[in-house]
Amino acid sequence: MNDLSGARALTVHQTARPHGFPTPADFAFVESAVPEPAPGTALVENLYWSVDPYHREMMDGEFELNAPLEGRTIGRVTASRTPDLAEGEIVFHRHGWRTHTLVTPEEVRRLPRFDGVPLSAYMSILGGTGLTAYVGLTRVARLREGEDLFVSAAAGGVGTATGRLARVMGARRIVGSAGSAAKVSYLKEHVGYDDAFDYHEGPAAALLAKAAPDGIDVYVDNVGGEQLEAAIEGLREFGRIVRIGTVAQYNDPEPLSAPRNLTEIVEKSLRMEGFHVRNHRDLQEELYEYVVPHLQSGRIGLDETIVDGFDHIVDAFLGMLRGRNVGKMIVRAAGAE
Ligand SMILES: NC(=O)c1ccc[n+]([C@@H]2O[C@H](COP(=O)([O-])OP(=O)(O)OC[C@H]3O[C@@H](n4cnc5c(N)ncnc54)[C@H](OP(=O)(O)O)[C@@H]3O)[C@@H](O)[C@H]2O)c1
Repeated sequence: MNDLSGARALTVHQTARPHGFPTPADFAFVESAVPEPAPGTALVENLYWSVDPYHREMMDGEFELNAPLEGRTIGRVTASRTPDLAEGEIVFHRHGWRTHTLVTPEEVRRLPRFDGVPLSAYMSILGGTGLTAYVGLTRVARLREGEDLFVSAAAGGVGTATGRLARVMGARRIVGSAGSAAKVSYLKEHVGYDDAFDYHEGPAAALLAKAAPDGIDVYVDNVGGEQLEAAIEGLREFGRIVRIGTVAQYNDPEPLSAPRNLTEIVEKSLRMEGFHVRNHRDLQEELYEYVVPHLQSGRIGLDETIVDGFDHIVDAFLGMLRGRNVGKMIVRAAGAE
């Protein structure tokens, strides 16, 4: 566990470009003095970090080597030289994988607090993860009551949020795929999925046809490849495919060989649309308004894997890529609420 009370700060750097799966050797923990706030800035001691599949994509080029890595982070202001940030305030920023950071007021977002809602929720269903699921269902799929849904990577952050939200929004049959029997059970017993399958257990098309024998109206695609091909086959006329991500490909330099059935998009009048959550930040308040009452009533639960200690952030990230998370993978500082 990392003790943040010391006067040293830790920052994670990427030190090499991976081929295939990254390893701990591609990262380094760099120690430095805790920075002093300059006029107009505040010192933030970080409490929660999000590790995400897009970080893997950034490792191929966008992350500068030997420099701090960006990422969604929540921290507490511990010293301030700006009247716009008070000591003790909890803020959200994107300075990422480090224990301490200096911020300007423009770089942070204050998080509203709601009774009974823990801070970690701002990294999961109330954060970019939940917003992605919400945008996918309401703006891209335009889900209607009584429709049937298939979700891939269903036991991950976006996948669990999608299942929870779709259930509250009145979806009929919700089917998911995930990487283990334990995840399949979790989806059915805790998240509200009607059925689920382990995608390792056979061709995705056969597994989906068994779980959703009457077909589906909407496919929420976190994975791409074979599962996208299976969903195209299972979709009814006028079905929609929400393209959220292609996690099956991030560690595989070879292009995916599927889907091979794109002609069905024309034949069944399907609509396939991708989006990036950063273009929908204006819906953040709407997300709070929709989700918070359900969190408070217990109708929506939190799906999170919380790893304690900043010194485990690389392990948490690599574990998430290997599917070791159920719900959103989050790293928590020692002593965080
Ligand atoms: N468009 C956007 O704005 C946006 C925003 C957020 C996230 N995303 C995308 O949404 C997807 C889910 O992201 P998340 O943050 O919620 O991550 P996540 O699902 O919590 O974690 C990634 C999961 O991917 C699964 N996985 C890994 N390799 C796989 C493979 N070869 N085939 C199938 N599944 C595999 C693993 O679960 P299993 O055990 O089930 O394999 C792992 O738990 C990703 O594609 C991500 O890039 C997009």
